[in-house]
Amino acid sequence: MGTLVTHHSGWQGYALANPEKAPLPIVDPDNAPISTAVGVTGMPGQTAYFGLFRVGKPQPGETVVVSAASGAVGATVGQLAKAHGCRVIGVAGGREKCAWCVDEAGFDACVDYRDPTFPAQLAAACPDGVDVYFENVGGAVLEAVAPLLKPTSRIPVCGYISAYNSPSDAVLEAPDAWLKRTVNAELETRFFLVHEWAGEFGEATKALGAMIREGTLKYRETVVEGLEKAPEAFLMLFTGANAGKLLVKVSDRENP
Ligand SMILES: NC(=O)c1ccc[n+]([C@@H]2O[C@H](COP(=O)([O-])OP(=O)(O)OC[C@H]3O[C@@H](n4cnc5c(N)ncnc54)[C@H](OP(=O)(O)O)[C@@H]3O)[C@@H](O)[C@H]2O)c1
Repeated sequence: MGTLVTHHSGWQGYALANPEKAPLPIVDPDNAPISTAVGVTGMPGQTAYFGLFRVGKPQPGETVVVSAASGAVGATVGQLAKAHGCRVIGVAGGREKCAWCVDEAGFDACVDYRDPTFPAQLAAACPDGVDVYFENVGGAVLEAVAPLLKPTSRIPVCGYISAYNSPSDAVLEAPDAWLKRTVNAELETRFFLVHEWAGEFGEATKALGAMIREGTLKYRETVVEGLEKAPEAFLMLFTGANAGKLLVKVSDRENP
């Protein structure tokens, strides 16, 4: 009784679950604040951790660029890469988000993709080119990163949110396929799904929780109160109205 778990049974008050068929990861409140179990110590954090280290394979001293840099996945990628000894450049929408990436999350630089001079600013921030590009958004950001890639670059394709709502087939080509077709067929790039590493999620959750407790992993959360607000909350992801992990709070722990 009273054990906290995460689940994929949907937004509802009660659910019948069979942990033998679908695991119910237990949330340890001593690891980090429980809200992070669906944020930076949960699936988004695991996505950052395994996507960066298993697909991006950064080496200390390399330049890592990450898009949607102030979001749940992107901010974690940047801080993990920084802790690994990399030079980290973020790409985010607007001055406030870019300032947070540099001032709070410790990125070396962050460039606003909405600025008309964005491609030139990104190139100036990456004078030695880009070794790892952690792709979250696709579209115009991908096009600006592409000329900065090296034959040895690694590009983990985590997502491409700029295309999710597109009615046009023309923008639906996945970034890894686009890069191989237009830049270099030999590039080391692949689309990954975090569940590839489901058996190792506990490792990432512990490592990320330890970083939060040490103060070396910063995160933000945008909490929208009430299940009835879920649709408008979801749409915030596509306008960038969220800062950090977007959460819909459906009840209090003490008063479920
Ligand atoms: N492969 C996997 O297993 C896996 C798992 C989890 C998440 N993901 C992907 O990871 C990415 C980040 O997810 P998240 O949960 O951390 O979301 P998030 O970054 O917290 O929120 C999405 C952000 O995307 C940016 N964005 C939206 N439309 C954009 C556009 N047209 N061009 C450029 N940026 C745009 C906005 O930030 P700005 O204000 O900075 O524009 C927005 O805040 C998503 O693509 C998601 O699908 C993949």
